[in-house]
Amino acid sequence: MEVIRTVDGLRDRVRAARNAGRSIGLVPTMGALHAGHISLIQRARRENDVVVVSVFVNPTQFNNPDDLRTYPRTEDADCAKLREAGVDVAFIPTVEEVYPEPDTRQFDLGAVAEVMEGAMRPGHFNGVAQVVSKLFAMTEPDRAYFGEKDFQQIAVIRRMVELEGFDINIVACPICREDDGLALSSRNVRLTDEQRAIAPAIHRTLASSVDWAVGHSLEETKRYVIDTVNSFPHMEVEYFEIADPLTMQPLTEWSKGTEAVGCITVYCGDVRLIDNIKYPAR
Ligand code: PAF
Repeated sequence: MEVIRTVDGLRDRVRAARNAGRSIGLVPTMGALHAGHISLIQRARRENDVVVVSVFVNPTQFNNPDDLRTYPRTEDADCAKLREAGVDVAFIPTVEEVYPEPDTRQFDLGAVAEVMEGAMRPGHFNGVAQVVSKLFAMTEPDRAYFGEKDFQQIAVIRRMVELEGFDINIVACPICREDDGLALSSRNVRLTDEQRAIAPAIHRTLASSVDWAVGHSLEETKRYVIDTVNSFPHMEVEYFEIADPLTMQPLTEWSKGTEAVGCITVYCGDVRLIDNIKYPAR
């Protein structure tokens, strides 16, 4: 595996691969890699000749300075995992390399970025669009891989791709979970033992709400999820919305013939956990 730290170095490496007729898969990450990231890499490995993984904690997508400061940075462990997963290139730039000058671009991401995470974390999705558009322009991958845990992020990235005219296939990959159902996240290590024992209630409640929804209205289903999760110690739902999976607009009633996605964020102590579940078309 090559570790590349400069944009010029990355461009040269991917240009050589492309000239040799090889396809390129990109997995953008912020490091602190876990089995969820590895599953994206394995899929990229199966579908591309060359796999590039970026490891970059992007400051422009953090609207909370403490969150940026405390975000885990584990480069050595990450590199060992990337080598083991058969990655060809680890792109690990500095902030100055990615942003030689401040990125003032404001993307017209529209309604998809205004609700839920967009409403709770102002500027977050613009920052994601900034860094992902830079990574796409540097790497020009055939495919880029993102996890469905950040379901809304994928919808936002698709919108950015459309705006910028990138010819890149965005591949959405299923959520990876611990055996007890907790969605894998770099933030899980910050849970205390007691919080860690309670946190799987988020997925358990979401999963049980799929059956519960069959005999109940959308509003009743939302209330069921919010009240159940809030009934556990340490847990406080920030939002739970049931939305259209393409536009991400919250629904007020079940629509016939289309899937819906329930998106939740929960504070477990001071750790912000995110998860989602699909409600099949009815
Ligand atoms: O999902 C993430 O880890 C980040 O938002 C991403 C896509 C790597 C951009 O920094």
